[in-house]
Amino acid sequence: MKFTASCAELSGLKADSLILPTGLTLNNNAKTIDQRSNNAISSVIASGEFGGKLGQVTVLNLPSLDIKRIILLGTDGLSNQRQIKKAVNAACVALKKTRVKTAMWIGGDIGDDLKAEASIVAQSINTSLYNYKKQTTDEASDFESLIFWSTKKSANHAVEASLEYGAAVGDGMNTARQLGNLPANICTPSYLAEQAVSLGNKKLKKATITTEILDRSHMQKLKMDSLLSVAEGSDEPPKLIVLNYQGAESNKKPVVLVGKAVTFDSGGISLKPGRGMDEMKYDMCGGASVLGVMNSLSQLQLPINVVGIIPATENMPNGGATKPGDVVTSMSGQTIEILNTDAEGRLILCDSLTYAAKFDPDTVIDIATLTGAVISALGKVASGVLSNDQQLADDLIECGTQSADPVWQLPLWEEYDELLKSNFADMANIGGPQAGTITAGCFLARYAQDYKWAHLDVAGTAWVSGGNKGATGRPVPLLMEYLRQKSESVSD
Ligand code: BES
Ligand code: MN
Ligand code: ZN
Repeated sequence: MKFTASCAELSGLKADSLILPTGLTLNNNAKTIDQRSNNAISSVIASGEFGGKLGQVTVLNLPSLDIKRIILLGTDGLSNQRQIKKAVNAACVALKKTRVKTAMWIGGDIGDDLKAEASIVAQSINTSLYNYKKQTTDEASDFESLIFWSTKKSANHAVEASLEYGAAVGDGMNTARQLGNLPANICTPSYLAEQAVSLGNKKLKKATITTEILDRSHMQKLKMDSLLSVAEGSDEPPKLIVLNYQGAESNKKPVVLVGKAVTFDSGGISLKPGRGMDEMKYDMCGGASVLGVMNSLSQLQLPINVVGIIPATENMPNGGATKPGDVVTSMSGQTIEILNTDAEGRLILCDSLTYAAKFDPDTVIDIATLTGAVISALGKVASGVLSNDQQLADDLIECGTQSADPVWQLPLWEEYDELLKSNFADMANIGGPQAGTITAGCFLARYAQDYKWAHLDVAGTAWVSGGNKGATGRPVPLLMEYLRQKSESVSD
């Protein structure tokens, strides 16, 4: 997909389709287009078919005109980025259905930030073209180019940069979605490692990206017995995937992203109930989001250093599997009584967090489909965020708002941490039935004491169930927004 910005005269524009965000009252741009389309817009408004309400999409087919199609997108009642994203998505889905080659987006009438609009349009175009079977957006349709039109000539450069940014975020989301959607018999830890290696083989102009895969014996040497205890019950070999993206000088401390990649979570000996168990192929979506971010970063080549750490394993119940009551020693030296083998995410993350310190990080963010409890707390709207640094939590909340990929904070108070008490080890791996997301966070916090750290629980947001079952690509937009802002403040 090609994205360009334009400020050319509206009266002479050329495109197969035109997308016009508008309310019930037409502004001057909309009036010009109305005139060019023989009043097709005012007629559809007069008929009552198009009411201008937020997210309403009406397609006008005008075969006798040079603009063959106008897609009206209602904008009345808009108030936040999440609504804008939903509305833009609806228009992009309608656009995809019309099977055009070129389209033009009339910018400047949705929200009050042209750059944010351009970025979300490009992101939505790319995510709407995602096709599970064909895997790539490129082959998925005839759609070739989108022109983002606006009156602001002075903003043209900034708009093009925003389009490039949004398109890269969309591609990163599609990477994460594809890996998430692949079944667990294909998307194994070894498969994820291969994908990471091929990402790491990309030659970039302004940055470098390298991949290292640690296998079981390497992890044994590092004493990652907590991580390895999860892999014990499976025939698939575990992999610790480490990606190193360097877009800034080597003395700049990296942001480390740690992504949980349990390629199938059966629960282990604490076996899960059968209903909906297929969805536990999505238990690697945290790791997939890190690969998605790495893909976006390598397209944009942002001036920042980012390390991705992805502990990848299955959680299965074979004869060698960890048993409830087993005690393991983590890489940090702290011992863990595994009371429930289904609380495995924290067991692979804790050793990864200890390993993260080796990179002398500026900040560490882990991303994990960690608890069902976060779905009870926040539903499928916001991801949970827990942090040992309030500024970092605030930054992530703000970036989530801006990128319409929202997160909401839960506390990490010592009263919750006390629930992890064990009589036989330094801690238990579960805290009982209450506050499950917070006790999971408290567990991780014990391994993240040496740096600024935040944990994102994306169990409710990384995929949707039901008729539209599929991975969402979240929280790639949030993470990219955070890294983009950070890269801008670094280079100032
Ligand atoms: N991967 C699951 C969390 C999960 C459950 C995500 C349902 C999405 C939907 C995680 O490994 C898990 O099983 N967590 C347990 C923890 C409990 C045993 C303390 C949970 O949430 O039930
Ligand atoms: Mn589990
Ligand atoms: Zn899990």
